[in-house]
Amino acid sequence: MACATCHIPEHYFTDGRPLPIVATNTSLSELPTRHTPTVVGAALHRWQFWDGRAESLWAQALGPLENPLEHNSDRLAIVRYVLNEYRLSYLQAFPNSESTLPKLERLPEHGSPLSHVAEYQTNWRQLSGEQRSEINHVFANIGKALAAYQAKILPDESRFDRFVDGLNLPTDNQSLSYLDLHEQAGLKLFISEQTGCIQCHNGPLFSNSDFQATLSSAEIIPEREGRVAGIALAHADPFNCRGIYSDAPDSCDELDFAKVNGIELQAAFKVPGLRNVAKTAPYMHDGGFASLSEVLRYYNQAPMHGFSHNELQPLRLQPYQLKQLESFLVALNSELITDAYWLTPPTPPSQGDNS
Ligand code: HEC
Ligand code: HEC
Repeated sequence: MACATCHIPEHYFTDGRPLPIVATNTSLSELPTRHTPTVVGAALHRWQFWDGRAESLWAQALGPLENPLEHNSDRLAIVRYVLNEYRLSYLQAFPNSESTLPKLERLPEHGSPLSHVAEYQTNWRQLSGEQRSEINHVFANIGKALAAYQAKILPDESRFDRFVDGLNLPTDNQSLSYLDLHEQAGLKLFISEQTGCIQCHNGPLFSNSDFQATLSSAEIIPEREGRVAGIALAHADPFNCRGIYSDAPDSCDELDFAKVNGIELQAAFKVPGLRNVAKTAPYMHDGGFASLSEVLRYYNQAPMHGFSHNELQPLRLQPYQLKQLESFLVALNSELITDAYWLTPPTPPSQGDNS
């Protein structure tokens, strides 16, 4: 399994499924409950994952590698793989780290504090503090390399952006034609007080990177789920901003000042960006809506749930207005600005080739 097994470049780095496929070698009977979000522009999000349990792109990348439902690997096996197959590239990317590399020949094949395999956990416990820290340093750097790569995957201008550029140059009538009248009406609705969409969907990606309870899910979300759990996990994560593997442990305001409790965090999920949203069905943290019109129909009704608070009010728009909103969302489609080189999978290293 690769990151691209779920974040498929042709699907705008999503998998097109409500919920992801499961690692074939996992012995767990548990199933995934979270829909695969895009990684396009993820570098611009303040928090990663639907519940924001990672507060950097590099810390995020370490999660799937050891997740039994995703790569289902373990820390030591991954560090071993990278140092065996890519040692030179690793040392180029992280110079001066040679003296602190783990001595692989003295270590077991597998080991992780998080593994569901008891033996791998025991292996990890039997390592010295220094050995663990050496392994964790390489593991964190692998996350930083994955983050550096993903930071290149960014959306290009959409027709909406060209239209906005035109508004700033009043004599440029050509730009106004980038959105037809139907889409312009959708834009007006999107920024209107009546819909309130931009309260949450604002900024470069059309996400305020915050967490909101919109309760779209058919499942009853336990109150402890969503952002309440996410922020607790972010604080407990040894790979967070304050940890010893961080590059900037002195500037962690986001983590330090994030709200850790309050009713508004219950069942709250990250506001997803809306660029290219027309290409990334299905929708929501549980993949519960198959199409944009289903999402908009939900916002239009926003049924009240008795068990928790909901930040939405029913919109009560006419069907033609819902169509206008939808056509505005489609006008947010764009290509990527990313060079084709970064979108083509590299050839895997051949056995024993240490380049
Ligand atoms: C089995 C499918 C699968 C694989 C493999 C996978 N992901 Fe994901 N990815 C997901 C799902 C599902 C989520 C959302 C999980 C959640 O929020 O709890 C996610 C979330 C993310 C996010 C957060 C995006 C956001 O807006 O919050 C990033 C970034 C990401 N993955 C990158 C990666 C990288 C890098 C790898 C490889 C190391 C990877 N993923 C492997 C399915 C996958
Ligand atoms: C109170 C904040 C808030 C408001 C207002 C809001 N949204 Fe959302 N939106 C969210 C959150 C949070 C999610 C994700 C919910 C989930 O996963 O359960 C979401 C999800 C979506 C999605 C699905 C995206 C995806 O990739 O899954 C679309 C499309 C969307 N919103 C469009 C709109 C439109 C159009 C409006 C105005 C009619 C609007 N939103 C108003 C917070 C908001």
